[in-house]
Amino acid sequence: MTFKRTALLLAVLFISLLSFAQTAKDARPLLQNVYGRAHSSLNGYWNYLVDPLETGYYDYRRRPTSDGFFKDHQVDNIKTYKEYDFDTSPVMPVPGDWNTFADNLFLYEGTLWFRRQFQYVPKAGTRVYLYFAGANYDTKVYLNGEKAGEHEGGYTPFNLDVTDLVKPGRNSLVVKVDDKRRADAVPTNNFDWFNYGGITRDVLLVELPQTFIQSYKVQLKKGSDNVLEMKAWMSGKQAGQKVEIEIPELKVKRSLVTDATGYASAEVKATPKLWSPENPKLYAVKISSATDAVTDELGFRTIETRGREIWLNGKSIFLKGISIHEEAAFRNGRVFSAEEDLTLLSWAKELGCNYVRLAHYPHNEQMVRLAEKMGLLVWSEIPVYWTIHWEKDYVFENALNQLDEMIERDQNRANVFVWSIANETPHGDARDKFLSSLARHAREKDDTRLISMAMERNDKSKEVLSIRDNMSQYVDIVSVNQYVGWYDGLNEKIDRVRWEVDYDKPLMISEFGGGAVAGYHGEANQIWTEEYQAELYRKTLKMIDERMGYVAGISPWVLKDFRSSRRLLPNIQDGFNRKGVISDRGLRKQAFYVLRDWYSSR
Ligand code: GCU
Repeated sequence: MTFKRTALLLAVLFISLLSFAQTAKDARPLLQNVYGRAHSSLNGYWNYLVDPLETGYYDYRRRPTSDGFFKDHQVDNIKTYKEYDFDTSPVMPVPGDWNTFADNLFLYEGTLWFRRQFQYVPKAGTRVYLYFAGANYDTKVYLNGEKAGEHEGGYTPFNLDVTDLVKPGRNSLVVKVDDKRRADAVPTNNFDWFNYGGITRDVLLVELPQTFIQSYKVQLKKGSDNVLEMKAWMSGKQAGQKVEIEIPELKVKRSLVTDATGYASAEVKATPKLWSPENPKLYAVKISSATDAVTDELGFRTIETRGREIWLNGKSIFLKGISIHEEAAFRNGRVFSAEEDLTLLSWAKELGCNYVRLAHYPHNEQMVRLAEKMGLLVWSEIPVYWTIHWEKDYVFENALNQLDEMIERDQNRANVFVWSIANETPHGDARDKFLSSLARHAREKDDTRLISMAMERNDKSKEVLSIRDNMSQYVDIVSVNQYVGWYDGLNEKIDRVRWEVDYDKPLMISEFGGGAVAGYHGEANQIWTEEYQAELYRKTLKMIDERMGYVAGISPWVLKDFRSSRRLLPNIQDGFNRKGVISDRGLRKQAFYVLRDWYSSR
């Protein structure tokens, strides 16, 4: 490649990294516990325009235009010739996914523009933020025709300071959401769940004082059950700001003073009742400064590994889990309400679970908070899924940003016990470098949780199964997705295999399972019948009991049949992954009861 072309390529790469860094900066740091602050909801019916050629963003030479749809021109068709008009465009509910809203958008992948007008009355000394709980996948936000910021990633929140853009009276908020899959995105263009596009979670307008409490973390110090570690980050980078953290029920009230970066920390002795699945105890906590105050409900627990066991609150715990996608029961669209979270988590409780693996991306904040109240531990995961472009720096920056957003949002949730950095990723040096850097970063950012990832098998022979993954040295829990009886032989093979896993750290099975059509019955050796799936569960659970050595926990794949464009078998899959123990219509399959009975016997 000539010098000139190399220089040009480097320049393009530098600009793209710079623009990503800029937009990531815009969208962070995250406001902690936005629901505990003064905010108004911008949820509701938004006008929308379907724009597959991104005419609203590029001119006819595919250059970004300064006069795009984000200008939200009032069209009079007399003086100004504009070929779009939000006022006369249809409306769609936000939050929601466009795929299940309109039949003609079911398989659409591309750009939709959304427009919401809102009235605002400015208040002196108030900062105004827009907070997006989630939008899939690439989001650009404009307020009153000016760029407010952008965000990449479909499953983590972001917030934008719009103090200088919001105006008295009517405001025009225009959002471009593009959910085109890309090989160099996170996840890539290849994944086994439905690519729901849209503003899929809440949009809030948050009013804050000039200097406010940006974030805080109050959890038991690593390795202790009677020392609280308190951290606070103020928006103003000034030393000497006083932050008070109060937990009335524990008679704890501690004043912290910020350093020159606006950060403050302290350790306080306390003996809280520990949060656990059996007793999901939460304490009212108030964090206040001279100008701001936030309330939250926090639980306190210890989590650690001891040899091959996972210990919660100083006792060994077996994790009785289930994997869950963030897809609503019955309706089978992206979850958009706390009621839909409750249905899924109630099913997990009915199974006898004490843990849910929220796959393969951070679910909405209410799901995690509800699970905390219901006594369900959470495995939280970023969508570093399958064949990520490990060697591209901007892909790593994207994954790192989503990891930061996941941790910053949920670092106060006692029930989150694992940050998972990947799912089923192919071995290799570039992948190990990418993932070990994520693992190190997660540990530095939050040492009060365990690090894991869902690995694949790397067997010693056809019937001596193993894991052998170089990444095992970087994680606290070695977890494996294994499909003997489905992708690897039929059910009878399960009885013939044995495992050799020799890590002195906990082993979990993050996935096993097989497909079944609810109501389709036959012999136990006939695949796609409920009997086959139930037999697979019986044999796998027996294998766990008898031939795997100590297993610290399992989260079978999967709670509910879910949509996936990879699953095309007519009259059996019809666009659904059928490995649910519950059907997409809420019908419990025989395997549901096999798993429930096994959990109740543990
Ligand atoms: C994989 C993967 C899941 C997928 C499942 C399946 O293990 O982690 O995302 O849905 O297998 O094939 O059903």
